[in-house]
Amino acid sequence: MRARLDHLVVSALQQGAAVPAFTCYDFTTALAVVEAAEEAGRGAILLVAPKTAGTANGLRLITALRGLADSAGVPIAVQLDHASDLRVIADAVAAGADSVLADGSSLPYEENIALVREARAVLEAQGHADVVIEAELGGLAGDEDRAFGADVAGSSAQGAAGLTDSAQVEDFVARTGAQLLAVAVGNVHGKYKGEPQLRWDVLQDIAVRTHIPLVLHGASGIPAEELVKAAAMNVGKVNFNTELRTGVLITLEAETGPHRADGENLQGLLGKWNASARDFAAGALSTLTK
Ligand code: 13P
Repeated sequence: MRARLDHLVVSALQQGAAVPAFTCYDFTTALAVVEAAEEAGRGAILLVAPKTAGTANGLRLITALRGLADSAGVPIAVQLDHASDLRVIADAVAAGADSVLADGSSLPYEENIALVREARAVLEAQGHADVVIEAELGGLAGDEDRAFGADVAGSSAQGAAGLTDSAQVEDFVARTGAQLLAVAVGNVHGKYKGEPQLRWDVLQDIAVRTHIPLVLHGASGIPAEELVKAAAMNVGKVNFNTELRTGVLITLEAETGPHRADGENLQGLLGKWNASARDFAAGALSTLTK
């Protein structure tokens, strides 16, 4: 069923839980996520990468995800992830996204604020004032679509990482009007170089400075015993991509040969893909509701 992303997240937090969000490059994965959410009786978020949303077929995928979310037996939101292009934001919302991460985190502070405000203005002009906006303060190392080892403390091949400056949080939230805040607290996109070292002290410092829910990106590789602590720090949304991809790719690598030998059995192979993504989503849903 249709759900406002902020309402979904706030109501999960009130129950001491966080809502998982999963990047969906395709419909097979999205079906698996929705099935897992329905089996768990919990809401979930379908994320669409900006590179996906920047193509005509990607916009058709968003429309298909909209239909899937609306027909689900549990609340499902469809969010455009990490967008900094106003055209892509407008197109994705017109195609059916109900929420957007207006991501100016790689820009200087004032430009980050300006981008979020421009995104809101564009959506309002389009008649979509109800779209929920997440903003990001602090820079995450790593690539959103391809997993390379990212170094949190220093610079990575993909760019420098910077922790969220908690002193900026109140001003940033007030001036952007963001409804959720993505933070950089030692999390990275993709694979961690070494063990992830989440800065719970920084997270706590941020959590006391704003009432809007916080978002933890780059959850792949963070152990479940760490993720269960998130909701207590007002982290109501946790984003997964790499681990889901890894599971599907390992499955496809192992199963393609046998399914080819079984009469080019693509239908059977898609069933294995579905099972891999569903199991991963079920695990994340269970971890975040503990
Ligand atoms: P990971 O690929 O590290 O899980 O990050 C996903 C993410 O943050 C999507 O926005």
